[in-house]
Amino acid sequence: MKIELSKNRKQKPDVNALGFGKYFTDHMLVWEYDSSEGGWQEQMIIPYDDFKLDPACCSLHYGQGIFEGLKAYKGEDGGVTMFRPRDNFLRMNKSAQRLCMATFDVDEALRGLAQLIKLEEDWIPTQAGTSLYIRPFMFGTEPFLGVHPSGKFMFTIILSPVGSYYANGLEPTKLIVEDKYTRASQGGTGEAKCMGNYAASLLAGEEAKKKGFDQVLWLDGEEKKYVTEVGSMNIAFVIGDKVVTPELDGTILRGITRDSAIKVLRAGGYEVEERKLPIAEVVSAARDGSLKEAFGTGTAAVISPVGTINFSGEDLVINNGEMGKITSWLYDRITGIQTRRYADDFGWVYRVK
Ligand code: COI
Repeated sequence: MKIELSKNRKQKPDVNALGFGKYFTDHMLVWEYDSSEGGWQEQMIIPYDDFKLDPACCSLHYGQGIFEGLKAYKGEDGGVTMFRPRDNFLRMNKSAQRLCMATFDVDEALRGLAQLIKLEEDWIPTQAGTSLYIRPFMFGTEPFLGVHPSGKFMFTIILSPVGSYYANGLEPTKLIVEDKYTRASQGGTGEAKCMGNYAASLLAGEEAKKKGFDQVLWLDGEEKKYVTEVGSMNIAFVIGDKVVTPELDGTILRGITRDSAIKVLRAGGYEVEERKLPIAEVVSAARDGSLKEAFGTGTAAVISPVGTINFSGEDLVINNGEMGKITSWLYDRITGIQTRRYADDFGWVYRVK
């Protein structure tokens, strides 16, 4: 590992106005892959700076790019931890395989990341609801115009001190069921955390915003009948006394917070069903009052209450538009484990120092 320290340290942002993903720390990790040079090169930590790219860089044309999102926390004792980082790198390797990109050694990636976090530990905000968001990403860098996989990749990790993903914090969000566009279908890239999935979702998101909604609730790409995910988070509903979340069918992101939420809920005595969930069932449960709560799960979104779902012009208001009991309980448990307020019974907390 080569380390070049920045000579111009940035001023830290106001912790009360962090928002999400607006500020970046002093350093980044870069790790290049070149198939003609034996594969992965030495990792480097260098001052945060622009990339120099050939205009023919293949990912600018054909979108060979993937990313991850995870978080680091600093406790009152000064200890620094990350939440389930190995799972993020394992998932990143799966995305890499789907996009014909180079896979990497997860332990080496973890060691590099831990070193970067140690160097930037002063950037980890400690106020409740804040954390240091970690964004590993990789893209093809070889310059060519033929359509084929790149032989060169740039793996980078940047860090951003963040507050809440949604501007209104934990205020319940408003979703609209998307009936025109689709996010993913069987055999596609829906499960991969690839850049193109997000690009393809932007137009639906912008149209939803114009109608006054925060995000869209995606249905399956084939029949537009089943709930899948929200794009920036997985989704779950409390119907009657059960928590129901769409099963992982290859089109839905394998959320690490989703997985954590399911395990924490089950350990807390809640029944959780992972299954095909028809939107018609959600709508009728909302109408007959058995839809008690809805919430999203994600690294950025954490546990986000959903207050309204618009279906075909009808606003279905959930729990009077307020955060429900199970959602609050889960938010407390998950953030408590992440910040070491609660015991790490599942072995999810990775000690950096
Ligand atoms: C995350 O939750 O980390 C994500 O990657 C979602 C992102 C689109 C903000």
